[in-house]
Amino acid sequence: MSDSILGGRFTFPGTQLTVQRIGYGAMQLAGPGVWGPPRDPDGAVAVLREAVEAGVNHIDTSDFYGPHITNQIIRQALHPYPQGLVIVTKLGGKRPADRSWQPVTSPEELTAGVHDNLRNLGLDVLDVVNYRSIGSGHGTEEGSIAAQVEVLAELQRRGLIRHVGVSNVTPTQLAEAQSITDIVCVQNNYNLAHRQDDEMIEGLDKQGIAYVPFFPLGGFTPLQSSVLLSVAARLGTSPMQVALAWLLHRSPNILLIPGTSSVTHLRENLSVDRLVLSAETMAELDGIGAEPGPSHPGH
Ligand SMILES: NC(=O)c1ccc[n+]([C@@H]2O[C@H](COP(=O)([O-])OP(=O)(O)OC[C@H]3O[C@@H](n4cnc5c(N)ncnc54)[C@H](OP(=O)(O)O)[C@@H]3O)[C@@H](O)[C@H]2O)c1
Repeated sequence: MSDSILGGRFTFPGTQLTVQRIGYGAMQLAGPGVWGPPRDPDGAVAVLREAVEAGVNHIDTSDFYGPHITNQIIRQALHPYPQGLVIVTKLGGKRPADRSWQPVTSPEELTAGVHDNLRNLGLDVLDVVNYRSIGSGHGTEEGSIAAQVEVLAELQRRGLIRHVGVSNVTPTQLAEAQSITDIVCVQNNYNLAHRQDDEMIEGLDKQGIAYVPFFPLGGFTPLQSSVLLSVAARLGTSPMQVALAWLLHRSPNILLIPGTSSVTHLRENLSVDRLVLSAETMAELDGIGAEPGPSHPGH
């Protein structure tokens, strides 16, 4: 591991887990609509192998991507896993046959979800599991998550989970989770145009807790902004690379997990730590969050 590649290193607080700040999100490896097998199974394996060969040691996944398929591809591509690879998974959702996204909140379903992840990934213990509050889809919604975080804490005591994180949570839900067990990471919807968590990120940074934005490129609604286009043109790079570089500059506790099914895009995403954004450029990009209209991904 090195401080000079992939954005440098970050250690999850109170853990032995150190990762490069640029990682990889595996959701795009399933088929269209995050359902079924990928259109190009060999391509999916190639993306994962190239990521790890380039030094990526933080992969985000879930057993409800596919469902099961994404984890099975990770296992096929990378098992036996290289030393130091941290696979972060999540519980809290399921995909019934109608392809909808439904919440999973009962102790029985959450426990079954851990066993599904262990089996499909080929692991004896999961490094980090996020409890993903289903909220309002890709947005947060208040409501206690204590019972579910208690289940994860119990599975941690039983040795099936090493560390716990939370996803799609409000500051109140985060505080509730932290009163139950140590939280090592928060995974929420955040990017250049979606800045709801600005304050939370600073609070987490002070505690050394990782903030891992999902939809760093806008997810299902790719980021679009005239400012982003003009900054990218000026720097001779792509708008998506600028969006990721902005996140790396935004706060040292931000870890990147951009999702892609393309080796070309993967290479672009893994190289964004070479982009140096001046204070003026950061200020210009910060203005995007205040822009009305299409710059904001719809949720
Ligand atoms: N906790 C949660 O609730 C939650 C929710 C959603 C996602 N996640 C996690 O967060 C990760 C990231 O989110 P995401 O994958 O949904 O969205 P994203 O990273 O914001 O964007 C992915 C989209 O951007 C495209 N893309 C990637 N790199 C690109 C590049 N260099 N140039 C142009 N287009 C590019 C991808 O298409 P190509 O495949 O064509 O590259 C894909 O359509 C997921 O993979 C998943 O692990 C978590």
